[in-house]
Amino acid sequence: MLKLMTRILLWNFKIPDDEKGHDLNLFCVPKHYEEDLDRVIIPHGLIMDRTERLARNIVQDMGGCHIVALCVLKGGYTFFADLLDYMKALNQNIDKSVPLTVDFIRLKSYCDDQSLVDVKVMGGDELSALTGKDIVETGRTMQTLLSLLNKHNPKIVKVVSLLVKRTQKSSGYRPDYIGFEVPDKFLVGYALDYNEYFRDLSHICILNENGREKYKK
Ligand code: IMP
Ligand code: MG
Repeated sequence: MLKLMTRILLWNFKIPDDEKGHDLNLFCVPKHYEEDLDRVIIPHGLIMDRTERLARNIVQDMGGCHIVALCVLKGGYTFFADLLDYMKALNQNIDKSVPLTVDFIRLKSYCDDQSLVDVKVMGGDELSALTGKDIVETGRTMQTLLSLLNKHNPKIVKVVSLLVKRTQKSSGYRPDYIGFEVPDKFLVGYALDYNEYFRDLSHICILNENGREKYKK
C-alpha cells in the first residue's frame, strides 16, 4: 500500500495549466479537423510511452492474479487496446504472468461539452477487476460504475484512467492508476469525443470555438 501511495505521489505526470502544447503543423492531424483544434496537448507517442509504463506497474502489482479487464466504452477503447497490448507483451516475457480476460461496458454521460444529469450504463456481463477508462473529470461516472461493480462482489477492483482533470468540480475521486493529470479544458482525440467526433484523431488536443460550433448538437 505504502509503495502504491509513493508511486501515486511521486510519479504523477502533471500537464501544467499553462502548458502551451504543440503547434498542429508539427504533427499529422486529419485534414477534416485542422480548423477545429487549438494545439496538440499530448502527442500520440507520449501517450504510448506512458501507457507502456502503466502496463508494467499493473502487471507488477497484480502479482500473477487473474485480471478481468473491463473497457469503458466508447472513450476508453483505444487506451484499453493499447494498455492490453503492452500487458500481453509483458506477459510473454516474465515468470509471474497474468491471465487476462476482457469485457466491455458502455457509459454515456456527456452531450456537447456538458455533463448529463444521469449516467447511462449499457452492457457488460462479467463485471469485475480492472477497469480501463478515458478521463475522470468530476468522478461521477466512475463512482456510478464502481457502485454497480461492487454489487457483483469482485475480489478487488482497480481503476486505470488515462487522464484525470484538475477541476473545481471534482468529487475528490482518484483512480488507482493515472496516465496524465490535465488542465480543466475540453480535450479531444485518442477516442475522447465531442458529440462522437474526434475519436479518429491520434493525439490529444484542445478543441477550439470553431470545432465547438461546427459539431454542436
Ligand atoms: P465525470 O463523470 O465528470 O468524471 O466525467 C467523465 C466522462 O465525461 C468521461 O468518460 C468523458 O466521456 C466525459 N468527459 C469529461 N471531460 C472530457 C473532455 O475533456 N473531453 C471529452 N470527454 C470528456
Ligand atoms: Mg464522450
